[in-house]
Parts: sequence; structure tokens; C-alpha cells
Amino acid sequence: MSRIVCSCASVSEQDIMKCIREGAHSLQAVGRACEAGVGCQTCHGDVRALISGHVRDLLASGETQGDQLPLFKGS
Ligand code: FES
Repeated sequence: MSRIVCSCASVSEQDIMKCIREGAHSLQAVGRACEAGVGCQTCHGDVRALISGHVRDLLASGETQGDQLPLFKGS
């Protein structure tokens, strides 16, 4: 079982990563997709780390260009 990252909404790392892989590349987008981070915001650092790790992997793989990503807008 995946660890809970957002205890306010009981959202696991696995669920957050699913949202991120489906295109949620900002705190707001992850919040809309799975409600992680919409409460006390204590998990924002962890959610940002998951997003940045995924984006880093995408850029390293050449699957996307950096200018195509709405990185951390309004976070
Ligand atoms: S722990 Fe995620 S919003 Fe509170």
C-alpha cells in the first residue's frame, strides 16, 4: 500500500502520481484532480517534490519540452 501524502484528504502517493502522470503538473491541478493539498497545505512540499520528480523524468526522457509544462504556476 502506498503511503498517505495528504492526510487531510487521505490521498496516497500512488493516487497523486496517477494524477501527475495524467497531466496535473501544478499544485492546483493536483488539487482539482484528487483533492490532495486543498486543506491545511502541510503536504504541499511533498506534492511539489512528486511533481518535480515526474517532470524531471519527462524532460530527461525527451518526452516533452520544458516550455510545454505549466510548472508551478500560482503555487
Ligand atoms: S495534508 Fe494535504 S492539505 Fe492537509
